[in-house]
Amino acid sequence: MANIILLGPPGAGKGTQARRLVEERGMVQLSTGDMLREAKDSGTEMGNLVADVMAKGQLVTDEIVIGLIEEKLAAGGEGFIFDGFPRTLGQADALGKLLAKMGTKLDAVIEMQVDDEALVARITGRSTCGGCGEVYHDQTKPWPADGKCEKCGSTDVKRRADDNEDSLRTRLMEYYKKTSPLIGYYYHAGDLFTIDGLAEIETVATSIARILDQQE
Ligand code: AP5
Repeated sequence: MANIILLGPPGAGKGTQARRLVEERGMVQLSTGDMLREAKDSGTEMGNLVADVMAKGQLVTDEIVIGLIEEKLAAGGEGFIFDGFPRTLGQADALGKLLAKMGTKLDAVIEMQVDDEALVARITGRSTCGGCGEVYHDQTKPWPADGKCEKCGSTDVKRRADDNEDSLRTRLMEYYKKTSPLIGYYYHAGDLFTIDGLAEIETVATSIARILDQQE
């Protein structure tokens, strides 16, 4: 199974598409954002350390996120979807080395292109299910009228502390300054595919499926 990176700014739809790939293809989603939120919610020392940085929309240190990914990769598996990682050139180098050590490699880096205006609407309208993490949106995928998550039946609707216009501004700046150079990095490596992330969720999924089918 292919190993891929979903690359794009906050709200590009990385998590939405990663969850589909887990369901439809049995791939393994590795979201550093989810890992960090889990650490924060369970009040670990590391979680407390990163809470404020995340709420402001800044990046957590390379050392912490590389450590999290290393731990997950050590647990084994195949068909990894890197969602929100790497976000700096240092993280990209580290990922290449970790995969090489495992005798595997990246097959595709999928850049999801969107424009900033659409991101504000996506981020400020987002909610997630506290039970299973299913992603909803007030306009495009509203929480079911019976109040229960369509995937797991939970009634726990969560909104993220960093899903506001102030944090989004910082998150976008961090993306353009530190993460967007990865587009050139992976283009040069011959791994980059670019898709239209502004299209409907189904259409985006079809574009990703087409790229994955080429890798098999
Ligand atoms: P993280 O959790 O990774 O957040 P992010 O990258 O900002 O991305 P998002 O989760 O906000 O967006 P998404 O692209 O997954 O969009 P989604 O599918 O939800 O990181 C959070 C923080 O953790 C960072 O700011 C940083 O502090 C820290 N961090 C994490 N990783 C790090 C790392 N590697 N290094 C350092 N720090 C790190 O979709 C958004 C909304 O749009 C949803 O409501 C959805 O329903 C809707 N939507 C999705 N697709 C479509 C579509 N095609 N059309 C219409 N609506 C859509």
